[in-house]
Amino acid sequence: MTEQILKITARNVNVFYGAKQAINDVSIDVDQDNVTAFIGPSGCGKSTFLRTLNRMNDTVASARVEGDIRLDGEDIYASSMDVVQLRARVGMVFQKPNPFPKSIYENVAYGPRIHGLAGSKANLDGIVEQSLRRAGLWDEVKDRLSESGTALSGGQQQRLCIARAIAVDPEVILMDEPCSALDPIATAKIEELIHELRGRYAIVIVTHNMQQAARVSQKTAFFHLGTLVEYGATSDIFTNPRQERTKDYITGRYG
Ligand SMILES: Nc1ncnc2c1ncn2[C@@H]1O[C@H](COP(=O)(O)OP(=O)(O)O)[C@@H](O)[C@H]1O
Ligand SMILES: [Mg+2]
Repeated sequence: MTEQILKITARNVNVFYGAKQAINDVSIDVDQDNVTAFIGPSGCGKSTFLRTLNRMNDTVASARVEGDIRLDGEDIYASSMDVVQLRARVGMVFQKPNPFPKSIYENVAYGPRIHGLAGSKANLDGIVEQSLRRAGLWDEVKDRLSESGTALSGGQQQRLCIARAIAVDPEVILMDEPCSALDPIATAKIEELIHELRGRYAIVIVTHNMQQAARVSQKTAFFHLGTLVEYGATSDIFTNPRQERTKDYITGRYG
């Protein structure tokens, strides 16, 4: 595999909810130009670890994060880090599409507006259009931008949420089981979109669907019981895993 530029480096990360430890000494590098999949059984800490990468765990009162996580070498847990800015740089798409109860246009325009990214209305219109185009949604919504985002189909709502993340010009997009509430056709569209977005954004996707991980990612990390068991090229993880626990998981011995 060619030499990769590292976008995120995480070292010796532990996460606790109160006294309960959910992540145990995880170290991992996330590539700039690859899609990285996090797989593993339910409850193994995939979402918890994903949320450490843009400090979403800060919003959980009982959560405590230890360790070192860097974005382009910059410590994201440093007291000087602006968390609002960080979450624009490292955007997030959730399992259940969560558009704001506002128009399609406003869903996408909101972020650029609060971050002061658009100087004029024409500029903002341009950002909205480009974001919707990149999210593969423009042609479906260009004539109904003033309709509510919540009136769209589930798959369209999820692409709207991706457009919303894109609109603030992120560097990384985190996706937590973005297709688990979608039908197969909507899922295929999101997977296609992930291929198109690769390279422009570093992408990390949590999925419990191993076929999906194999289809969309170049790197795969297998988590189990809060630990990172194995991390490597997706093709190796699925065809030639080194760890017994990985083999057991991908062959369906537990789920
Ligand atoms: N907000 C929370 N408060 C307390 N425990 C939590 C919270 N979120 C997750 N956990 C616990 O942390 C562990 C990892 O959960 P999670 O990261 O959601 O796993 P996954 O995404 O792999 O299903 C589980 O034991 C879960 O019950
Ligand atoms: Mg989860």
